Amino acid sequence: MSVQSAIKRKTAPDIRARKHGEPIVMLTSYHAHTAALVDRYCDVILVGDSLGNVMHGFETTVPVTLDMMILQGHAVMRGSQHALVVVDMPFGSYEASKEQAFHSAVRILKETHCGAVKLEGGARMAETIAFLVERGVPVMGHIGLTPQSINTLGSFRAQGREEGSWEPIENDARAVAQAGAFSVVVEAVAEPLARKITETIAIPTIGIGAGKDCSGQVLVLHDMLDIYPGRKARFVKNFMAGSSSIAETVASYVKEVKAGKFPTAEHCF
Ligand code: KIV
Repeated sequence: MSVQSAIKRKTAPDIRARKHGEPIVMLTSYHAHTAALVDRYCDVILVGDSLGNVMHGFETTVPVTLDMMILQGHAVMRGSQHALVVVDMPFGSYEASKEQAFHSAVRILKETHCGAVKLEGGARMAETIAFLVERGVPVMGHIGLTPQSINTLGSFRAQGREEGSWEPIENDARAVAQAGAFSVVVEAVAEPLARKITETIAIPTIGIGAGKDCSGQVLVLHDMLDIYPGRKARFVKNFMAGSSSIAETVASYVKEVKAGKFPTAEHCF
Protein backbone atom coordinates (compact mmCIF):
# COMPACT_ATOMS: atom_id res chain seq x y z
CA MET A 1 0.00 0.00 0.00
CA SER A 2 1.29 3.42 -0.92
CA VAL A 3 1.94 5.85 1.94
CA GLN A 4 2.23 8.85 -0.40
CA SER A 5 -0.51 11.44 -0.06
CA ALA A 6 -2.44 12.30 -3.23
CA ILE A 7 -1.84 16.00 -2.53
CA LYS A 8 1.70 17.19 -3.08
CA ARG A 9 2.94 19.77 -0.61
CA LYS A 10 5.56 22.32 -1.63
CA THR A 11 9.06 21.45 -0.45
CA ALA A 12 12.17 23.41 0.50
CA PRO A 13 13.78 22.54 -2.90
CA ASP A 14 10.64 23.85 -4.68
CA ILE A 15 11.08 27.20 -2.89
CA ARG A 16 14.85 27.21 -3.53
CA ALA A 17 14.10 26.76 -7.26
CA ARG A 18 11.97 29.94 -7.29
CA LYS A 19 15.01 32.24 -7.12
CA HIS A 20 14.28 33.63 -10.58
CA GLY A 21 10.64 32.58 -10.80
CA GLU A 22 7.32 33.99 -9.64
CA PRO A 23 7.57 35.94 -6.34
CA ILE A 24 7.33 33.68 -3.28
CA VAL A 25 4.36 34.47 -1.02
CA MET A 26 4.61 33.70 2.69
CA LEU A 27 2.33 34.51 5.64
CA THR A 28 2.39 33.50 9.28
CA SER A 29 -0.14 31.19 10.87
CA TYR A 30 -0.23 29.64 14.33
CA HIS A 31 -3.47 27.63 14.21
CA ALA A 32 -5.27 25.03 12.09
CA HIS A 33 -8.08 27.43 11.13
CA THR A 34 -5.83 30.29 9.91
CA ALA A 35 -3.57 27.72 8.20
CA ALA A 36 -6.58 26.40 6.25
CA LEU A 37 -7.41 29.98 5.23
CA VAL A 38 -3.98 30.91 3.88
CA ASP A 39 -3.00 27.48 2.53
CA ARG A 40 -4.68 27.87 -0.86
CA TYR A 41 -2.96 31.22 -1.51
CA CYS A 42 0.56 30.96 -0.03
CA ASP A 43 3.67 29.07 -1.07
CA VAL A 44 5.00 29.03 2.48
CA ILE A 45 3.28 29.22 5.88
CA LEU A 46 5.57 30.41 8.63
CA VAL A 47 4.82 29.33 12.18
CA GLY A 48 6.69 32.36 13.46
CA ASP A 49 7.81 32.89 17.02
CA SER A 50 5.86 36.16 16.65
CA LEU A 51 3.14 33.94 18.15
CA GLY A 52 4.66 35.02 21.46
CA ASN A 53 3.57 38.62 20.79
CA VAL A 54 0.38 37.90 18.86
CA MET A 55 -1.11 34.99 20.83
CA HIS A 56 0.40 35.44 24.27
CA GLY A 57 0.94 39.19 24.60
CA PHE A 58 4.68 38.94 25.32
CA GLU A 59 6.64 42.13 24.61
CA THR A 60 9.33 40.17 22.74
CA THR A 61 9.82 36.71 21.24
CA VAL A 62 12.43 35.80 23.88
CA PRO A 63 10.02 33.91 26.22
CA VAL A 64 8.75 31.59 23.45
CA THR A 65 9.63 27.91 24.07
CA LEU A 66 10.26 24.91 21.83
CA ASP A 67 7.11 23.23 23.20
CA MET A 68 5.00 26.25 22.20
CA MET A 69 6.42 26.17 18.65
CA ILE A 70 5.82 22.42 18.35
CA LEU A 71 2.21 22.63 19.58
CA GLN A 72 1.31 25.39 17.10
CA GLY A 73 3.43 23.90 14.30
CA HIS A 74 1.49 20.64 14.54
CA ALA A 75 -1.81 22.56 14.46
CA VAL A 76 -0.72 24.40 11.29
CA MET A 77 0.27 21.13 9.62
CA ARG A 78 -3.17 19.69 10.42
CA GLY A 79 -4.87 22.74 8.92
CA SER A 80 -2.88 22.90 5.68
CA GLN A 81 -2.26 20.64 2.70
CA HIS A 82 -0.38 22.53 -0.02
CA ALA A 83 2.06 25.09 1.40
CA LEU A 84 5.51 24.38 2.77
CA VAL A 85 5.26 24.84 6.55
CA VAL A 86 8.34 26.36 8.19
CA VAL A 87 8.56 26.42 11.99
CA ASP A 88 10.70 29.01 13.80
CA MET A 89 13.36 27.74 16.20
CA PRO A 90 12.79 29.83 19.35
CA PHE A 91 15.43 31.75 21.30
CA GLY A 92 17.58 29.39 23.39
CA SER A 93 16.81 26.26 21.38
CA TYR A 94 19.76 26.40 18.93
CA GLU A 95 22.48 28.91 19.83
CA ALA A 96 24.48 26.89 22.39
CA SER A 97 25.91 24.37 19.91
CA LYS A 98 25.33 22.68 16.54
CA GLU A 99 24.23 19.58 18.44
CA GLN A 100 21.65 21.51 20.49
CA ALA A 101 20.31 22.98 17.24
CA PHE A 102 20.11 19.52 15.65
CA HIS A 103 18.23 17.99 18.62
CA SER A 104 15.74 20.90 18.67
CA ALA A 105 15.25 20.78 14.89
CA VAL A 106 14.69 17.00 14.99
CA ARG A 107 11.99 17.47 17.64
CA ILE A 108 10.30 20.09 15.45
CA LEU A 109 10.39 17.92 12.30
CA LYS A 110 9.33 14.69 14.07
CA GLU A 111 6.61 16.17 16.29
CA THR A 112 5.04 18.62 13.81
CA HIS A 113 5.80 16.89 10.45
CA CYS A 114 6.66 20.33 9.02
CA GLY A 115 9.02 20.70 6.04
CA ALA A 116 11.69 23.08 7.35
CA VAL A 117 12.87 25.21 10.27
CA LYS A 118 13.91 28.88 10.42
CA LEU A 119 16.60 30.33 12.64
CA GLU A 120 17.94 33.84 13.19
CA GLY A 121 21.53 34.93 12.61
CA GLY A 122 23.95 35.21 9.70
CA ALA A 123 27.68 34.45 9.74
CA ARG A 124 27.57 33.46 13.43
CA MET A 125 25.04 30.68 12.62
CA ALA A 126 26.60 29.48 9.34
CA GLU A 127 28.34 26.44 10.85
CA THR A 128 25.10 25.41 12.56
CA ILE A 129 23.09 25.81 9.35
CA ALA A 130 25.59 23.63 7.44
CA PHE A 131 25.48 20.99 10.22
CA LEU A 132 21.67 20.83 10.06
CA VAL A 133 21.43 20.80 6.25
CA GLU A 134 24.06 18.03 5.96
CA ARG A 135 21.90 15.96 8.34
CA GLY A 136 18.60 16.37 6.47
CA VAL A 137 17.12 19.48 8.08
CA PRO A 138 16.08 22.16 5.55
CA VAL A 139 16.88 25.61 6.98
CA MET A 140 15.48 29.05 6.18
CA GLY A 141 17.83 31.80 7.41
CA HIS A 142 16.80 35.15 8.93
CA ILE A 143 19.09 38.20 8.74
CA GLY A 144 18.89 41.98 9.11
CA LEU A 145 16.73 42.79 12.12
CA THR A 146 16.69 39.65 14.26
CA PRO A 147 14.02 40.17 16.96
CA GLN A 148 15.33 37.38 19.24
CA SER A 149 18.42 39.58 19.83
CA ILE A 150 16.35 42.53 21.08
CA ASN A 151 18.11 42.55 24.45
CA THR A 152 21.50 43.14 22.82
CA LEU A 153 20.17 45.34 19.97
CA GLY A 154 18.24 47.63 22.35
CA SER A 155 15.51 48.52 19.84
CA PHE A 156 13.73 47.22 16.73
CA ARG A 157 15.59 49.64 14.42
CA ALA A 158 15.87 49.07 10.67
CA GLN A 159 19.32 47.86 9.59
CA GLY A 160 21.69 49.10 6.88
CA ARG A 161 20.30 52.63 6.55
CA GLU A 162 23.79 54.01 5.82
CA GLU A 163 25.84 52.39 3.05
CA GLY A 164 28.84 52.24 5.41
CA SER A 165 26.97 49.70 7.57
CA TRP A 166 26.10 47.28 4.74
CA GLU A 167 29.13 45.00 4.82
CA PRO A 168 28.29 42.83 7.87
CA ILE A 169 24.74 42.31 6.58
CA GLU A 170 26.03 41.34 3.11
CA ASN A 171 28.46 38.93 4.79
CA ASP A 172 25.55 37.43 6.76
CA ALA A 173 23.55 36.86 3.57
CA ARG A 174 26.50 35.21 1.81
CA ALA A 175 27.31 33.03 4.83
CA VAL A 176 23.75 31.75 5.18
CA ALA A 177 23.52 30.98 1.44
CA GLN A 178 26.92 29.23 1.34
CA ALA A 179 25.99 27.18 4.43
CA GLY A 180 23.14 25.61 2.46
CA ALA A 181 20.00 27.45 3.60
CA PHE A 182 17.24 27.13 0.96
CA SER A 183 16.08 30.74 1.40
CA VAL A 184 16.56 33.64 3.78
CA VAL A 185 14.21 36.14 5.43
CA VAL A 186 15.60 39.68 5.19
CA GLU A 187 13.91 41.83 7.85
CA ALA A 188 13.82 45.65 8.12
CA VAL A 189 16.77 46.31 5.85
CA ALA A 190 17.23 49.37 3.61
CA GLU A 191 15.73 48.69 0.17
CA PRO A 192 18.96 49.17 -1.88
CA LEU A 193 20.85 46.79 0.39
CA ALA A 194 18.13 44.12 0.13
CA ARG A 195 18.22 44.54 -3.67
CA LYS A 196 22.01 44.11 -3.71
CA ILE A 197 21.80 41.00 -1.51
CA THR A 198 19.05 39.51 -3.71
CA GLU A 199 21.16 40.09 -6.83
CA THR A 200 24.28 38.64 -5.22
CA ILE A 201 23.31 35.44 -3.40
CA ALA A 202 22.16 32.21 -5.02
CA ILE A 203 19.13 31.55 -2.80
CA PRO A 204 15.75 33.37 -2.70
CA THR A 205 15.36 36.32 -0.30
CA ILE A 206 12.01 36.77 1.43
CA GLY A 207 11.59 40.37 2.52
CA ILE A 208 9.69 41.99 5.36
CA GLY A 209 10.35 45.72 5.36
CA ALA A 210 13.11 45.14 2.80
CA GLY A 211 11.54 46.45 -0.39
CA LYS A 212 9.96 45.01 -3.50
CA ASP A 213 13.09 43.57 -5.11
CA CYS A 214 13.33 40.52 -2.83
CA SER A 215 12.42 37.12 -4.32
CA GLY A 216 9.31 37.03 -2.13
CA GLN A 217 7.50 38.71 0.76
CA VAL A 218 6.27 37.76 4.21
CA LEU A 219 3.94 39.50 6.66
CA VAL A 220 2.46 38.54 10.00
CA LEU A 221 -1.14 37.56 9.16
CA HIS A 222 -2.59 39.43 12.17
CA ASP A 223 -0.78 42.62 11.08
CA MET A 224 -2.13 42.59 7.54
CA LEU A 225 -5.64 41.79 8.82
CA ASP A 226 -5.23 44.70 11.28
CA ILE A 227 -6.38 42.55 14.21
CA TYR A 228 -3.20 42.91 16.26
CA PRO A 229 -3.61 45.88 18.59
CA GLY A 230 0.10 46.82 19.00
CA ARG A 231 1.93 49.68 17.26
CA LYS A 232 2.31 48.95 13.53
CA ALA A 233 5.75 48.68 11.97
CA ARG A 234 6.34 50.89 8.91
CA PHE A 235 6.42 47.85 6.61
CA VAL A 236 2.94 46.63 7.58
CA LYS A 237 0.01 47.26 5.28
CA ASN A 238 -3.58 46.79 6.38
CA PHE A 239 -5.00 44.69 3.53
CA MET A 240 -8.35 44.32 5.30
CA ALA A 241 -9.43 47.82 4.23
CA GLY A 242 -11.75 47.36 1.25
CA SER A 243 -12.07 43.56 1.65
CA SER A 244 -15.24 41.84 2.80
CA SER A 245 -13.66 38.63 4.12
CA ILE A 246 -10.36 37.27 5.40
CA ALA A 247 -10.00 35.10 2.29
CA GLU A 248 -10.45 38.16 0.06
CA THR A 249 -7.84 40.03 2.13
CA VAL A 250 -5.29 37.24 1.80
CA ALA A 251 -6.02 37.01 -1.93
CA SER A 252 -5.38 40.73 -2.41
CA TYR A 253 -2.05 40.51 -0.52
CA VAL A 254 -0.99 37.62 -2.76
CA LYS A 255 -2.11 39.48 -5.90
CA GLU A 256 -0.16 42.62 -4.93
CA VAL A 257 3.00 40.66 -4.08
CA LYS A 258 2.86 38.71 -7.35
CA ALA A 259 2.24 41.89 -9.34
CA GLY A 260 5.13 43.69 -7.62
CA LYS A 261 2.67 46.24 -6.16
CA PHE A 262 3.50 45.50 -2.51
CA PRO A 263 5.58 46.75 -0.83
CA THR A 264 5.73 50.36 -2.05
CA ALA A 265 8.14 53.10 -0.92
CA GLU A 266 5.96 53.93 2.11
CA HIS A 267 6.62 50.42 3.53
CA CYS A 268 10.40 50.58 3.00
CA PHE A 269 13.50 52.06 4.61
O1 KIV B 1 8.21 35.28 13.79
C1 KIV B 1 7.84 35.74 12.69
O2 KIV B 1 6.65 35.93 12.42
C2 KIV B 1 8.87 36.07 11.73
C3 KIV B 1 8.48 36.91 10.55
C4 KIV B 1 8.25 38.31 10.97
C5 KIV B 1 9.45 36.81 9.44
O3 KIV B 1 9.99 35.70 11.88
